[in-house]
Amino acid sequence: MGDRLVIKGGNRIEGKLEVSGAKNACLPLMAASILSQDPVELDRVPDISDVRIMIKILEEMGVIVDYDHKGHMYLDARNLSTTRAPEEYVVRMNASFDVMGPLLSRHGHGEVSLPGGCKLGPRPVDMHIDAFKAMGAEVVKEGGFVKAKCPRLKGCRILFPKVSVGATKNSMMAATLAEGVTTLENCAREPEITDLAQFLVSMGAKIEGIGTQTLHIEGVSSLHGTKYSVISDRIEAGTFMLAGAITEGDVFIDNISIEMLENFVMEMRKAGQEVIEENGGLRVKGHRPINPLDITTAPYPGFPTDLHPPMAALLALGNGTSIMNETIFNGRYMYVMELGRLGADILVNNQTARIIGVKGFVGAPVDAPDIRAGGALLLAGLAAEGETTIRGVRYIDRGYQHIEERLRSLGADIVRVKEPLTPLP
Ligand code: EPZ
Repeated sequence: MGDRLVIKGGNRIEGKLEVSGAKNACLPLMAASILSQDPVELDRVPDISDVRIMIKILEEMGVIVDYDHKGHMYLDARNLSTTRAPEEYVVRMNASFDVMGPLLSRHGHGEVSLPGGCKLGPRPVDMHIDAFKAMGAEVVKEGGFVKAKCPRLKGCRILFPKVSVGATKNSMMAATLAEGVTTLENCAREPEITDLAQFLVSMGAKIEGIGTQTLHIEGVSSLHGTKYSVISDRIEAGTFMLAGAITEGDVFIDNISIEMLENFVMEMRKAGQEVIEENGGLRVKGHRPINPLDITTAPYPGFPTDLHPPMAALLALGNGTSIMNETIFNGRYMYVMELGRLGADILVNNQTARIIGVKGFVGAPVDAPDIRAGGALLLAGLAAEGETTIRGVRYIDRGYQHIEERLRSLGADIVRVKEPLTPLP
């Protein structure tokens, strides 16, 4: 079973919340420590289970990791014991594959199992592999592992056939120590990519075009240590902003810039929710009616796929029918059935959901099938009449640190019922 969250709905979410450092920024930064010939230090690393998985992966390869579980992390990757990542941890998280580029570029070899993680549909790494091959690596896939080797990668021009956060991260990291210049075209431009690029530059990497879809990386002979603070988690911020909206509350998210969430904020305002930029953060006042929307997810700066399920929870209480087109992950709709148990009326046809607004949710037991579906269920539980029990909290813990304490600090009636994971019969 694992831990459960029990929410008694109906309380307004109000008050100030400090957003965490970004999960999807700190994971590649941790992986990139492998590139450095000196120790690196990170601040604002969130205390979430994905960080703990990445720590395990790095430690099993010989990286010294010291994390105070309050944000500060010290990583020393000077003496790796192996360039083979431990499969038992890699299969639990898609971002584990971020270690491949650094291993290959710094050590000329890497063996990483095909990654697992959220069941959002197939999570291929073909574009990562094609980029490594283009830079001169010999790459084979066998026994569920990707094995890559190359004495020294060579810079070249790479055009990604589709925008990929993962492939952009791995190729950029690999190119930092390659011989010559690498030009990456059709790159992802997510703030987490920009954060990784700036981290690499702080280690001595030479990267031009940061924040654009074309990156020029001039390889250097080595990268030195650095101290770096992780950017804020825009997906966590958006989820908490929706908590204020769905409960007709008034919440202030500190330390988040509107630039990281421009499209999401525009849609929130179109939905009739008040979003105010103030004191370096964003304030949300929730209102009824919730206007129906027609949203299509897209790579940054488009509407983020990770806020699709949480936004769907709000729109499920809309004053009309909303449309949500998912263009990134086939398996993004795992939340629909679970929201339906709370009373939502959502019909999915191929990659499009019709969200027919209902008057309200009624609490029920539900299961979180992935991180962001878990976020959607949390929001629906906060607005539901009666009690909602969310099982599968391990998914929520992957992406939202100390979730129940932080929601309780904003007025939610939420408790965690601890229960050991019972092995399947
Ligand atoms: C990152 O996943 C994030 N994860 C995801 O967040 C996020 O939803 C996604 O980017 C899109 O923004 C992390 O940063 C750890 P992609 P990633 O490579 O890198 C296909 C969360 O909840 N593709 O941009 O895996 C792929 O199947 C997670 O925090 C290939 O076909 O995303 C998908 O359809 C969920 N071949 C699309 O591209 C490849 O080689 C975008 O994937 C790589 C990707």
